[in-house]
Amino acid sequence: MTAADAPGRPGWLLDQVASAGRENLDAGHVARYDAIEDAAPDREVALLQRWGMDGDSVVVELGTGTGQFALAAARVCGRVVAVDVSPVMIAELEAKLRRSGLENVTVVQAGFLDYQHQGPPADVVYSRYAMHHLPDFWKGVALARIRDALRPGGVLRVWDVVWSFEVHEAEERLEAWCATGGPDGGDGWSRADFEEHVRDEHSTFTWLFEALAERAGLVLETAEYSADGVFAEYVFSRPDGPVPETADSD
Ligand SMILES: C[S@@+](CC[C@H](N)C(=O)[O-])C[C@H]1O[C@@H](n2cnc3c(N)ncnc32)[C@H](O)[C@@H]1O
Repeated sequence: MTAADAPGRPGWLLDQVASAGRENLDAGHVARYDAIEDAAPDREVALLQRWGMDGDSVVVELGTGTGQFALAAARVCGRVVAVDVSPVMIAELEAKLRRSGLENVTVVQAGFLDYQHQGPPADVVYSRYAMHHLPDFWKGVALARIRDALRPGGVLRVWDVVWSFEVHEAEERLEAWCATGGPDGGDGWSRADFEEHVRDEHSTFTWLFEALAERAGLVLETAEYSADGVFAEYVFSRPDGPVPETADSD
């Protein structure tokens, strides 16, 4: 049996393991992930502390990977739930967790679309370089689920590959980004990795992503775009009250 036909799983639900990214299911890639990717966890923790994250906070990280952020957050928060669909990433994280001695991290093998939050609502939901694995429709569903897991006033931090260039610039900008990749077999991300990202994954435009978040009932607090138009860093908040009806929903 595969995750796609697990009991209770609706037949219409996206197969999140199949769409998790080839490399994230590859043991060799996962073993060297921390050597090639610095997720800037200390900077991210400091940023979220400025948004009120503290020693009592419940933090959920979706698409945690090897848990760079989750482990850093656990040193300053009450409880961290580290969620990922990849069994290979989960195994790597669990090994790191055993070595860390941290006891306030719960590891959950699940995805954006089926993680069931338990206990007090989240003060912070964090997601870096993971939501681009979902097609846009499913990003909207994921954002609505995140909104429901947050307490009113809670924050969502998203840092991902989200295109802020204009649609007519796409070919030039994508080619320029892919050209920054190194050679195959080198000690970092390769051109082929970036090409695969563009071709097979689901990065979208900033204006689409922001509209999906707004429809999901989140308020955009801050947005920063990299100069090359490739990366976006967001803070959203969950306001008090129900999701407002949109003007064209009737
Ligand atoms: C590039 S890694 C990023 C890991 C970590 N957040 C970081 O910044 O280093 C992307 C992660 O997202 C996970 N992922 C992909 N699709 C997912 C989904 N639908 N739900 C949860 N995690 C997912 C992958 O398994 C992988 O661990």
